[in-house]
Amino acid sequence: MCGIIAYVGTKPCKQTIIHGLSRLEYRGYDSAGLACIDEKHKHISYHKYAGTTTTTSPVQRLEQTATINGHIGIGHTRWATHGVVNEENTHPHFNCQKNIAVVHNGIIEGHEKIRKALIEQGHDLHSTTDTEVAAHLLGNHLKKHNDLKTAVMEFSQELHGAYAFVFLLEKYPEKLLIMRRRSPLVVGIGENEMFAASDYLAFSDKTNKVVFLPDDSFALLSKNNIELYGFDGKALQVIEHKINSLSQKIDKQGFDHYMLKEIYEQKHAITRTISFYNLIGSTNKTANKDDLTKPYEPNYTDAIWRQLTLNPNEVGRLKSINMIGAGTSWHAARIAQFFFEYICKIPTRVHLASEFRYMPFFKDTNSTYIMISQSGETADTLEALKLISGYDQHSIALTNVASSSMVREAQGFLPMQAGPEISVASTKAFSTQLATLFWLANRIALERGIIDEKQMHDAEGDLFIAAEILEASIENYKLEITQTLASQYAKYDRFIFLGRHISYPFAMEAALKLKEISYVFAQPYPAGELKHGPIALIDEKTPIFIFSVLDDLIYQKLVSNAHEVKARHGHLVVFAFEGQDELIKAADTAFVIPRVNPLLAPLAMTGLMQFFVYHITCVLGCPIDKPRNLAKSVTVE
Ligand code: M6R
Repeated sequence: MCGIIAYVGTKPCKQTIIHGLSRLEYRGYDSAGLACIDEKHKHISYHKYAGTTTTTSPVQRLEQTATINGHIGIGHTRWATHGVVNEENTHPHFNCQKNIAVVHNGIIEGHEKIRKALIEQGHDLHSTTDTEVAAHLLGNHLKKHNDLKTAVMEFSQELHGAYAFVFLLEKYPEKLLIMRRRSPLVVGIGENEMFAASDYLAFSDKTNKVVFLPDDSFALLSKNNIELYGFDGKALQVIEHKINSLSQKIDKQGFDHYMLKEIYEQKHAITRTISFYNLIGSTNKTANKDDLTKPYEPNYTDAIWRQLTLNPNEVGRLKSINMIGAGTSWHAARIAQFFFEYICKIPTRVHLASEFRYMPFFKDTNSTYIMISQSGETADTLEALKLISGYDQHSIALTNVASSSMVREAQGFLPMQAGPEISVASTKAFSTQLATLFWLANRIALERGIIDEKQMHDAEGDLFIAAEILEASIENYKLEITQTLASQYAKYDRFIFLGRHISYPFAMEAALKLKEISYVFAQPYPAGELKHGPIALIDEKTPIFIFSVLDDLIYQKLVSNAHEVKARHGHLVVFAFEGQDELIKAADTAFVIPRVNPLLAPLAMTGLMQFFVYHITCVLGCPIDKPRNLAKSVTVE
């Protein structure tokens, strides 16, 4: 986890570092710090802050108070893995002489052993982090070898785990030492300046010329030069990429929170998704490659063409589909399983990324793995992808960040058209994942002759309708939610969310949304399981939510579940569709939305569910965009 930014150049580094940190806060915001080589005194000076107050984040405190003066510096925003949130554990960390400073993203395995050895050698360690050992250990190697390159090579042999490091060394006041094993690190090349960061976003307004540091490599960055080496000391070729980026201003545009803004962006994001895929997926292949420079996010057009849709032969051969994701992306996959099985009749399995790696793997040349991830950096999903690649198994990354590690690792790439998602709680990423996967299922069905061009066209139309309803239903209930319902439901401290068939994974997503932003406990259950245990929990203090479906048979089963709740004096809230009168009548509170294609029922309900959860959280006064203990991108396993 954590975000790293570093600068070397001709300008004062403070603003670049602070600006980069504020763009990296999605990777963690427990604490933040920066260090630079002081221009005048030629030594390292630094500032650190831990903990977020209700009004100020650690990065904002750095901006307000840090006084540093130099042209080379490093910064870090932390999501705590080893060691509590306090100033001692805040990066940068130092060696004993404080002439080496380091920022780190990742986890150093076996750091306890290294720490013990360092203490036995007489080193003074001040934090309980794994990172601090790196500064001391590198110091040891630099004492042993006058040559920086040799010292780094030896140092890399002693470290295990995942890491992206940037070191500031007083002895080399013009150079940044950067290193990477498994955690992401990207270099930006400017005019007489270089940047290094965990994510291109940190400096995307400064340059679009980048170098993705290869795994197991290190580099020495000076303002005009990159010297790149493998851990074995061999010089590596520096490969420059141009990010085709629309420089985006990231602000709340008048909304109180990014989450609310992003909820409202969904209709357009889905529309953009359909138009985008319609263009590149057109069967007459007349789409002009240049048209693809238009997508919302930075894109490598070549990557889009790289097996965006599987080629016809491969589609014909497909005997199964696998999807892998974490959190909300996993929920999207669980819903999309219904798309692939119902529309293309292809057996589909969905795997939780954090579990997948530890299960036996069965290579299948007639299968593909779709890796679903908003960030394209989630460590659990990325590691699962690397395992799959190791077996030469076909894979496709469905992500929102075209410059992400997953896009580079997978064979195919399905870009999401969500646009930057800033709030930790995923909203528009979820809905555009659903839209993309629904489109893909239909596109595969077309390729296999299961549906014809007209049905493909109708499917795209169904997506447009679902997007309309997603937004219109927010408007329908806006007043009721903001004036009464949000306050009424903010009084409860636990909920049960029920769904069946395609609405069960949606209930899981709704429960995750409520838990992560409001800290209120919500337990999702398949409605049919209620009678096998959870029914014992029904009382007047635990509202039961039922998310309906548009399949008549399954709807009837949900109606029975609703009666079971009411027979026990439970408080019932339903998200239902027009005409589902029996369910609506049984409810204490009912949200009713227009009918859509049954497979798009969850997508149509998404906006209203998120809006309701958002307003409950507003009543509770929680920091919506940055919930406690969380980070937007989870880059540790
Ligand atoms: O970037 P990813 O989609 O791979 O992230 C996966 C999860 O960490 C993410 O969906 C998380 O569950 C969100 N906070 C949910 O709102």
